[in-house]
Amino acid sequence: MEKFIEQKFNIGALKGISAKNVEEHLKLYAGYVKSINLIFEKLGELMADQEKNAYVIGELHRRIGFEFNGMRNHEYYFKSLEGGPKPLPKDSLLKKELEKVAGSVETAMKGFKTLAMTRGVGWAMLYWDKQSKQLIPTWVDEQHVGQLNGLFYVLGIDMWEHAYVYDYPTSEKKKYVEAFFENLNWEVIEENFKKAQ
Ligand SMILES: [Fe+2]
Repeated sequence: MEKFIEQKFNIGALKGISAKNVEEHLKLYAGYVKSINLIFEKLGELMADQEKNAYVIGELHRRIGFEFNGMRNHEYYFKSLEGGPKPLPKDSLLKKELEKVAGSVETAMKGFKTLAMTRGVGWAMLYWDKQSKQLIPTWVDEQHVGQLNGLFYVLGIDMWEHAYVYDYPTSEKKKYVEAFFENLNWEVIEENFKKAQ
């Protein structure tokens, strides 16, 4: 198994999300990278005696989805905050698609923000389904429960409390959602959408 490498992100000062919160959040991301590597390393060792280690092997396999998606979700998340806030390009394909399904980008994002306010710990996701050629928004519990098979990540927001706890009380998480969108680099999201085609 190749080791997964911890990515570095060039995140400047954000509006409404403190440097302290970003710093702590990046430490959590590093923990997912460390843990997914640890799982595969341990599995490699335990496989030497599969009969004796069957229970532990099973439990480690069960955790792959949590750690792997914890790593990958955060890589998309931090990447979308790199480079400062930027609007969708004029000739944006994503803009056209959002206008087709919701009338406007603003209306589509109003719906997405409601999705982000889903009660619980997890992520609001907007995927592209290559097969049915449409955007599919969904809620993902934790890092992995509810990820949709074969779909491509376009936009996501981390709705774990750790994403905003240094800046807002839990009862004000809507402010964090607004702050995230104020800092979002839509050019990155457009790129995600293009790659997903
Ligand atoms: Fe997070």
